[in-house]
Amino acid sequence: MNDLDQQLRRRLTFAIISHPDSGKTTITEKLLLFGGAIHIAGAVKSGKNMKDAVSDFMEMEKERGISISTSVMGFEYKGRKVNLLDTPGHADFSEDTYRGLSAVDSALLIIDSVKGVEDRTRKLCEVCRMRHTPIATFINKLDREGKDPVELLDETERELAIGVRPVTWPIGQGRAFKGVYSLVERKLILFVPGQVQMPTDVITIADLADPLLEEKVGHSLASKLREDVALLSGVYPPFDIDEYLAGKATPVFFGSALNNFGIRELLDTLTTMAPYPTPKAAEERIVRPEEEKFSGFVFKILANMNPMHRDRVAFLRVCSGTFERNKTYYHVRSGKPFRTANPTAFMAQDSEIIDQAWPGDIVGIHDTGTFKIGDTVTEGESINFKGIPNFAPHIFRYIVNADPEKGKQFHKGLDQLAEEGVVQIFSKPRQSNVRVLGVVGQLQLEVLQYRMEHEYKSRCAYRPIDSSIAHWVSSNDPKALKAFVEENERKILVDIRGTHIIMSDSPWGFERIKAAYPAMRFYSTSDMVEERA
Ligand code: G4P
Repeated sequence: MNDLDQQLRRRLTFAIISHPDSGKTTITEKLLLFGGAIHIAGAVKSGKNMKDAVSDFMEMEKERGISISTSVMGFEYKGRKVNLLDTPGHADFSEDTYRGLSAVDSALLIIDSVKGVEDRTRKLCEVCRMRHTPIATFINKLDREGKDPVELLDETERELAIGVRPVTWPIGQGRAFKGVYSLVERKLILFVPGQVQMPTDVITIADLADPLLEEKVGHSLASKLREDVALLSGVYPPFDIDEYLAGKATPVFFGSALNNFGIRELLDTLTTMAPYPTPKAAEERIVRPEEEKFSGFVFKILANMNPMHRDRVAFLRVCSGTFERNKTYYHVRSGKPFRTANPTAFMAQDSEIIDQAWPGDIVGIHDTGTFKIGDTVTEGESINFKGIPNFAPHIFRYIVNADPEKGKQFHKGLDQLAEEGVVQIFSKPRQSNVRVLGVVGQLQLEVLQYRMEHEYKSRCAYRPIDSSIAHWVSSNDPKALKAFVEENERKILVDIRGTHIIMSDSPWGFERIKAAYPAMRFYSTSDMVEERA
C-alpha cells in the first residue's frame, strides 16, 4: 500500500445532521472530548443563539473568528483521522448546510427521543439520500420520558425512507433508564446517572436468559428487554454494513449525550465502519480518491472575519491524490495557475499550516478573491465537481443602492457576498443594470444588509417581487428557449452561469407554464440543468 492509500484509509469525514435542539452541540463536544481534542466541556460554541432572532445572529457574526475554528474539527481516534464538519443549524441557512454535506462521506443523524423526526431532519436526509450518503443514527435524550423506541424506529423508517437497523436497544426510559443492550456485541451497558461510565458498567450477556440480567436491571425491565429483542429480530433484518454504505439502511444507537452515555460506542462503531473517502462525481467523470493526481473543490467561503483587513478563507475538500503546500495547481474556472504557501488544517480549537493533505481532508486557503463556491482545483485536468448546487430561492427582491455615490462599494460587496454564498444574485435579460436577489430564508436578506453596511460601508434597500417559486429552465431546442424567454421576459432571471430561471407566483402558475411549453425542461436545483444556455 502506498502512502496515499494508507492516508486515505485513515480518513473519516462526516457531518452531523439534526433539527435544532436535539443535541448536536452536546454530541460534538462529547466526540471531541473522547477524541482528546478538547479537555473541558463548554469549549464548543453553541450555534443556539442563531435559532431565534437576527440580533442574536449578528452577535454570532461578530464572533465569526470562532465559527472558522468550528467549521471543521479534526481529531485522531483509534488510528483514524476524523474530520467533523459543522453545518449551520438555522433553516434559513440550509443552502450552506447542503453544501457542507457535499464535502463529507457520511453523516450522523441525531433524533431527539422526545420529539421524534422533525422538519429539518427530513430535508437534510433527503439531501443525503440524493447522494446515497451513508447515515448512522443516534437517538438522544433517553434519560427523558420520550416516545416508545419501536415507535421512534417506525417513524424514522417511514418518514426518512431509510431502513432502520437497531444496533443497541434501550432498557427503560426517563427516570427508569437503565442503559442499553448491544444487540451486535451481546453486551449490557449500564447507565449510572451523573457518573462517568466505568469498564465495570459493561457486562457481557451472551444469552438473554441469563439471570444476571434481572440482577442488573430488575425483573420487569429484564422481561421487557427479552420481549423487545425477540420482537426486533422478527421485524428488522440484522445490520449489514453494505446496506449502510449504500445509504439504504441506517444503524441506530440509543443514548444520552448530556450524560456521556452511548457516545463512546457510537464513536467506536463509526471509526470501524464509516466509509473512508468515497469517489466524487465531476461533470466529466467519476474521480476516485486513490488517483495519484490531486483534485479538490471549494464548498465554503468565509470572508471578512477580521474587519481590519479583507481576509477570506476558502474551504477546499481534497477528493483525490496528495495536496502539497507551494505546489502549483490549476484553477479550472479561471484557467489560471494557483499556489498557496499557507494551507491550513483545522483542529478543534486550533489551526495549523500543513505541508500535505489527503482525500477526505479539508484545507483552508487564505484567498484574496480567486475562489467561488463550487470551484475545482486540479493538477491540470479540466473537470468540474458536481453536487454543489444552488437551490431554488423562495424569496426574491430587487436590490437597490441607497447611497448612489458609493456605487463601487455596493457592487464589490454584493459580488463578494454572493461569492461567499450569502445570497444568489440574478440579472434580468436586456436590463444589465438590474440586480435581483434570491434567498431561501428571510434571515439571509437581513444578514446581507447588515454585512453590506458594516463590512463595505454600503447601504442597500430591497423592492418586492411577487414570486415565490423558481425553476431553472433549459431546452435542447435553442429556438424554443429563445421564444420562451421572450414571451415570459417579465418573469425571467439569468443566473451567474447564464442559465435562465422562470419565477412563478403559485404552484398553479408554474403548472400552467409547464403545460404551455412542453419543449422546456424545468429543474429545482442548478446542478440538474443538463443543457447550458
Ligand atoms: P443543538 O446543538 O442540536 O441545538 O442542541 P444542544 O446540544 O444545544 O442541546 C439542546 C438542549 O438539549 C440543551 O439544553 C442540552 O443540554 C440538552 N440535551 C442534549 N443532550 C441531552 C440528553 O441526552 N439529555 C437531556 N435531558 N438533555 C440533553 P438547554 O437547556 O437548551 O441548554 P443548556 O442550558 O443545558 O446548555
